[in-house]
Amino acid sequence: MVTERQAVLAVLKKHVTSEHLLKHCIAVEIAMRAYAEKYAGDVDYWGAVGLLHDVDFEKFPDDHPNHAREILAQHGYDDEFITNVESHARDWPNERSVLQKCLLAVDEMTGFVIACALVRPDKSLDNLEVKSVMKKYKDKAFARAVNRQTLMESAEDLGVDFKEHIQFVTSALAVAVKQNEYQEFSLLNS
Ligand SMILES: [Fe+2]
Repeated sequence: MVTERQAVLAVLKKHVTSEHLLKHCIAVEIAMRAYAEKYAGDVDYWGAVGLLHDVDFEKFPDDHPNHAREILAQHGYDDEFITNVESHARDWPNERSVLQKCLLAVDEMTGFVIACALVRPDKSLDNLEVKSVMKKYKDKAFARAVNRQTLMESAEDLGVDFKEHIQFVTSALAVAVKQNEYQEFSLLNS
């Protein structure tokens, strides 16, 4: 079971070719790594769960994440890892672990924060303020595909203040986009 970043990315690329989806997976990975540090988790492991969380989405968009198991098992991922991936199903029936709560909490938030950055004149995360993200959050016409209820409830479930969660994810993404390992796919190009 590989959790080293480049190896995990290679697994992901076998099943995802859409640049948009790859960027999303990488953004979720970045946020998961940051939360792993906060909650004293295994950073590479949490990052791998983030990278692979949508591994079945391209092939099975209407039955996602129900095909993650068959895909990840063939790459040697164990039951616990696969369950972590499956747990971001919105209708997951079980109590989520901290890692699993983080995965749900960052899944839509990363895309939302990036969408907020992209409409700024400088298209940058650096000066993106929480209050401007909150304004966009209340503007239902903005990034309509992002489910506001999931955004709010998943942060609540994790037990973090919503605005702090926005700041945390924004900062994690802002730092990462400047690092070499994340520049293969520029997260800030739409
Ligand atoms: Fe996702």
